[in-house]
Amino acid sequence: MSENTFNLDGSPVPFEPGQTVLQAALAADRYIPHLCYHPEFKPHGSCKVCTVKVGGRTAASCTFPAQAGLIIESNTEEMNALRRTLVQMLFAEGNHFCPSCEKSGNCLLQALGYDLGVTTAGFRHMFPDRPVDASHPDLWIDFNRCILCELCVRASCEVDGKCVFALSGRGITKNLVVNSPSGLLGDTDISPDDKAAHVCPVGAILPKRVGFAVPIGERRFDLSPISAQALADAPRSQTPAQPCSSCEGSE
Ligand code: SF4
Ligand code: FES
Repeated sequence: MSENTFNLDGSPVPFEPGQTVLQAALAADRYIPHLCYHPEFKPHGSCKVCTVKVGGRTAASCTFPAQAGLIIESNTEEMNALRRTLVQMLFAEGNHFCPSCEKSGNCLLQALGYDLGVTTAGFRHMFPDRPVDASHPDLWIDFNRCILCELCVRASCEVDGKCVFALSGRGITKNLVVNSPSGLLGDTDISPDDKAAHVCPVGAILPKRVGFAVPIGERRFDLSPISAQALADAPRSQTPAQPCSSCEGSE
């Protein structure tokens, strides 16, 4: 095995210094399922869908630094069963009614569920009763669909420079909040052109007046599965985004 190479499911993956295991795998056309990772943002490590076994111990591959000689197991029945359970928990925790959701066919959670063979939520649905905020003239938020990935939080602060969103609470009480005196989106300066308005992987933050502009059946993940799209989206050769300092190497 060459110096900058690790072993993923029995075959070598090259990496550049500074890449995480997930970044190196995707750049080498090797898919590891993931949800909260976005190639334009620092890995955050919140969903754990990207969990792999590194030398027999579980680790989030989106934050685990690639190192020479690592032995990594990913596409195994054990790891995929763990991922199915995590996805099922997300479906059970929120209100994800795919057939009536505008995001259907463009939703990472739905696409991941299909790719992993999730057929039921597997747990009793919690049917949360969270607000729907339609106070903004061009955008609306359904908090019942939020999976707490923090992508809108990071996009609003790091790209838009507005910090419109934040996460509040811990554990089961953790929730997305809007940074305005009223707590309403209409009282912020978010714009439909902002990165935060487009980064939501599910149907929690959506633009108004464009519902079902593209018919169901012709949308992104209707055309090819998330495993293929993630490989197509992966940066090939660039300075990789670094793991955030609070979650580097988290398990
Ligand atoms: S609203 Fe969307 S982008 Fe923001 S934390 Fe929830 S799921 Fe993630
Ligand atoms: S992709 Fe969410 S923890 Fe790695």
